[in-house]
Amino acid sequence: LDIESDRVFLLNSHFDAIYESGTPLFRSNPMEKARKQWLETSQVEEYLSSLGKSLDDKRTIAEIWEDNGLPIAYVWVKFTDLVDYHFTFAEVVEIAVKPEYRRRGIATKIMNHVEQVAKARGADVLRSGTGIDNRASRKLHEKLGFQTIYLDYEKPLRDIDS
Ligand SMILES: CC(C)(COP(=O)(O)OP(=O)(O)OC[C@H]1O[C@@H](n2cnc3c(N)ncnc32)[C@H](O)[C@@H]1OP(=O)(O)O)[C@@H](O)C(=O)NCCC(=O)NCCS
Repeated sequence: LDIESDRVFLLNSHFDAIYESGTPLFRSNPMEKARKQWLETSQVEEYLSSLGKSLDDKRTIAEIWEDNGLPIAYVWVKFTDLVDYHFTFAEVVEIAVKPEYRRRGIATKIMNHVEQVAKARGADVLRSGTGIDNRASRKLHEKLGFQTIYLDYEKPLRDIDS
């Protein structure tokens, strides 16, 4: 993965993941309209900078998978050490497969690869999160044997326009 040369693919893949995993409010905006808006926010550079910083940790898994030289999928996994507990977890920050390549077992292949690499790099557990409405991602995780460990709640405190 090269942040500069893969920038367009990374931003589109990242947006696909945040939109599909987004809150009902965020998703009440049509996807392409929301993408256009998001591309104009400071979150773009924040995301790229946080991906770049995580590459300083040699354990980080940040890969673009290709088909005949064309990018078709992306995965980013970070490691966190709980030093006092002698415990390390690896977290799938995001995984995304290009729409026309979905439902062909690619994410399954990537997750199995991530599991092996994370274990080899010292992780005790592999974590991953998604949005409540992200049916594809939820099914993927369940099929791969992940257990649900947290639930996040949200309650609007005022009328919010999408
Ligand atoms: C979630 C995502 C990565 C799955 O990628 P994929 O390559 O299509 O997944 P796979 O083909 O390996 O599917 C594995 C299993 O997941 C489940 N699954 C995948 N897509 C599904 C869908 N649209 N609806 C229901 N179940 C689905 C199925 O159980 C599937 O097994 P099956 O095809 O044998 O029934 C892909 O839909 C995607 O890129 N979405 C946008 C980004 C995103 O939401 N990322 C996750 C949050 S970070």
